[in-house]
Formats: sequence, structure tokens, C-alpha cells
Amino acid sequence: VRLELSLEQIEKGGYKHFMLKEIMDQPNAMRNCLRGRIYQPAEAPDRWEIKLGGLEKAKEGALNPQSPLERMANACRFIFAACGTSWHSGLIGKYAFEKLAGVRAEVEYASEFRYRKPLICDSDCLIAISQSGETADTLEAIKMAKEHKALTIGVVNVVGSSIARETDCGMYLHAGPEIGVASTKAFTCQVIALLLMALRLGKQRGALSEEMLNMYCAALNAVPDSIEKWMSSLTEQTQVISKNLRLATNALFSGMGVHFPVALEGALKLKEISYIHAEGFPASEIRHGGITLIRNFVPVICIAMRSDPAYEQIKQMVRDFRHKGAALLVLTDDGNTDFAGVAHFTLCCPATKLEMQPLISCIPLQLLSYHIADMRGCSIDQPRNLAKSVTVE
Ligand code: G6P
Repeated sequence: VRLELSLEQIEKGGYKHFMLKEIMDQPNAMRNCLRGRIYQPAEAPDRWEIKLGGLEKAKEGALNPQSPLERMANACRFIFAACGTSWHSGLIGKYAFEKLAGVRAEVEYASEFRYRKPLICDSDCLIAISQSGETADTLEAIKMAKEHKALTIGVVNVVGSSIARETDCGMYLHAGPEIGVASTKAFTCQVIALLLMALRLGKQRGALSEEMLNMYCAALNAVPDSIEKWMSSLTEQTQVISKNLRLATNALFSGMGVHFPVALEGALKLKEISYIHAEGFPASEIRHGGITLIRNFVPVICIAMRSDPAYEQIKQMVRDFRHKGAALLVLTDDGNTDFAGVAHFTLCCPATKLEMQPLISCIPLQLLSYHIADMRGCSIDQPRNLAKSVTVE
């Protein structure tokens, strides 16, 4: 028997598309991103430590001899600069930096930041987030921050890329090559990298007690395993839902707090690969405009975790959407039956600490976009007009 396999088929590892392979590869990619950075020391196995080697030493020849971690611990403000999906991980990072590290954080579209005169000072830290490390606008944002003597930190997947070289220090994602144009595993690994930084800074800045730190580290470290177990059952469920939603022309995604960026990312994925118009809203904001779009059969995808601070309000809104005729998909945590008889479809995720929940809740949305695009016969790994990295200005 002769097996004829192209190099591409081998690289896809049995999956129909790179994107699906990359979605399913996330537990491993996350483990690689965490490896060596979060651990329980042999001499104190009930404690957790975070070691971020790439932030420990100033670059050779740097004007400021302080270590990046020291500068980060004393920083007045963090600025996340990024584009596309990486901008969404910045939004999740902002939430983590404020809550876990107790420090001000702002998120900027690199393209907006670079073309205005933002106020930057030498006690600021700019974190450039980029899968490719080549996005022209993000690179320019770094150069601007450097002119103002701010510390620049890269959160990059591609080793040796321009952004990795241009920044003062950084963290590689170790997510492995991402071939599909729509970013998936790089996104979750960016979130992991930012959570690790937030936890490390939370300890250093005294915003987190030893006990809290241990609790968060244990939760973060457990995410890849809990995703792995759950993902096998998710494919079939998302396929059934996709079949029902595949003919939509518009879709709305809603989420609150840390799930607002997940809603944005869910909408972006759907737009990118299935060419369905989709918008993400902060749940309550839908009432200020988006609500006019809700009518019979318009898919509304609501993220409603019981750990969400405004869960009761979200629950009420979900009922309201149903009343208006939306085709309702609710993404909630395992064991929650609050939406039985309200939502047309419910997808349940393993629950974790709220700050880490986006690592899990984004996955069904990635799969949903994937299956819808596949059923619509779209060019999934190379959507029309979309580049993997935008190196033009
Ligand atoms: C393009 C890609 C997106 C990506 C964005 C930022 O638009 O299609 O998937 O999120 O660029 O790319 P970067 O490499 O900087 O993360």
C-alpha cells in the first residue's frame, strides 16, 4: 500500500486546516508558555514561584542599568500596544494588571498611538504584544516609547523577529508556529504571558498576598489540563450549533468585564474566516444601540459566567434578548442550569478564577467560527484580503 501525503498534509497533523490544528493544540501551547516560568520549588512544594528570565536583566549597553522587573515594579503605568487579536489580549491584560498587580494599565491600538502625540514618561512601561513580531504599527509604537525613555517589553511568538529585537526585554510565547491567518493559540498564550507578568508584579508590588498568589498560580497552572479534557466533547457540540447558525448574515457577541474582550475576539474570528458581519459589545452597552439589531433569528452569543460580577444583570439581559427573538447561544460555566428554557443553545466551560476564565471561554468561540466557516466553504487558513502580519503602514 502506498500512502501519498503532501508536506502540507503532514504539517496539518491529520486536521483539515491549520486553524483547527492550532485550536486543538492550545493545551500544549499553553503548557509550553508556562514551562519553567511557574513552578513549586522542591524545598517548598506548597508554594508557587514565577520566574520570568527575559525580564531579569537590562540589555547590554542599556542607558538604565536597573533590571526590567525592578522598573516594572516601580512603574506608574503600563501601556499595551498591539493590533487585531493581540489588542484583545491587551484588554484582558489590562484587567489582570489592575486587579492582580494594582497598577494602572491602558490599551492602545498601535496604529492610533503612533499617529498622535501620546503623553509618555520614563516611568511608563510599554508592552508590545504581537504574534509575528513584525506588525509595522506596533514596531513604530515601540520606537516612540523609546524616544521618551519608557521601558519597552515585547510579548512575541516569533523568535528573533523585529519587535523582539527592538524591545528592551520580553517574553516569548513558545506557542509554536501559527500558520492559520486568524490567530488562536498565540492569543491564549499572550493572555498567559500577561497573567504571569501580572502575578509576578502583584507579588513584587505587594498587591497580592502569598496566599492569593499561590491560589492564582495553582489555578493558572491547572488551565491546560482542564481544557484538554473538555475540548474533545466540544467539537461535536459546536458543530451542531454551527449548523444552525451558518446562514446568518449578522451576529452579536456580548460579554462583561474580562469577557468583553472575549466577545470582541469571538466576533473578530467570525468576521475573519466566515465573512459574517459580527460585533462584540460590553453586555450593558447593547442597550445603547446594538439592541436595534436584535430580531428574529439574529444570533446573539452571550458570555454569562456565574463568576461575572454583574451576573444577575447579564441573566436578565439574556431573557430580554430571547424575548426579542434572538437565536440565543449562552456560554456559561459547568453545571449552570439558569439558562435552560431560555437559551436555544448552551455551551458549558470548566470554571476557573475570573481573571483566567478568558483562556477557556474563548475556545468554544474559536471552534464555532471555524465550523461555521467550514460549513460555508470559506478559505479558512487564508481568508480573502487578510494578511498574517501587516508589515505595511
Ligand atoms: C493581522 C492578522 C491578525 C493579527 C494582527 C496582529 O491582522 O490577520 O490575526 O492578530 O495582524 O498581528 P501580530 O502579529 O502583531 O499579533
